[in-house]
Amino acid sequence: MTAILHTGDPERGALWQQIVTRELPDIDFRCWPDAGDPAEITGLIAWTLDAELVASLTNLEILFSIGAGVDQLDLSLLPPHVRVVRMIETGITNTMAEYVAMAALALHRDLPSYVDSQRSGMWAPRDVLLTAERTVGVMGLGQLGRAAIRMLAPLGFRVAGWSRSSTDVPGALCFADDAERDEFLAQCDILVCLLPLTDDTRGILDRSLFARMKAGASLINVARGGHLVQDDLIEALDSGQLRYAFLDVAQPEPLPEGHPFYSHPSIMLTPHIAGVTRKETAVHALIDNLRRARTGEPLEGEIDRARGY
Ligand code: GLV
Repeated sequence: MTAILHTGDPERGALWQQIVTRELPDIDFRCWPDAGDPAEITGLIAWTLDAELVASLTNLEILFSIGAGVDQLDLSLLPPHVRVVRMIETGITNTMAEYVAMAALALHRDLPSYVDSQRSGMWAPRDVLLTAERTVGVMGLGQLGRAAIRMLAPLGFRVAGWSRSSTDVPGALCFADDAERDEFLAQCDILVCLLPLTDDTRGILDRSLFARMKAGASLINVARGGHLVQDDLIEALDSGQLRYAFLDVAQPEPLPEGHPFYSHPSIMLTPHIAGVTRKETAVHALIDNLRRARTGEPLEGEIDRARGY
């Protein structure tokens, strides 16, 4: 019998316990705080890690992240042999792609400035461009970046993609690594960050990156707050180098009361809701991976712990 422990939202835990037990009756699905004997637990499902709990799980084999990212989990708490799996499921990918499309269209059609005009009692039409006249650049071509491109391309945008390693994504002109980064940035009217957060990408959205974009371009950050250098963004917006920023993530979350992002006229801020794990669909991704673990097949979304994603 394999025992796995769910931590976090009790409602999700109860639903997953019911469905996993029905689909895989030989799995002993436990919900925190009813962990039973911690030495029996081989799988842990978590959004963040509790050091004391992890230390008690002496036979842990696999950590399943609730989220698409794993940077919020302090993986240094885990012995090196523990496998770590990101959540890949349609709830996250669809909601993320939809948010990116919503933000790109809002920027494309100047919605933030029309809202400003409305609030100031002004009737102020502007030129309307076609989506084919705008380039949306997606940084990060993993599951979420590719899902965003699948939604942006049919809207008619010119879509460009950038990632560390060269990747071909249908519907996008792709660029790779440092050598092609400037060429990619120079063509973006709207830049979308969907990179994993690693030591390499922390602070990547900074003054020097903004300076390589077209003056007046806009940013959508739906990855992690740690990708962005906050003061550099404010400076770029205030100088006009950037026009608008849609931010769904911040550092820390929630942002403290009075933080300038709440009131900056060029920032649209949402509280980390762009891509959300849907408990009803994510449980099937978990079940699929539990089956794979049993038969020794590769796990969907297993990260390379040395690389960090
Ligand atoms: C949310 O940010 C996630 O990692 O799924």
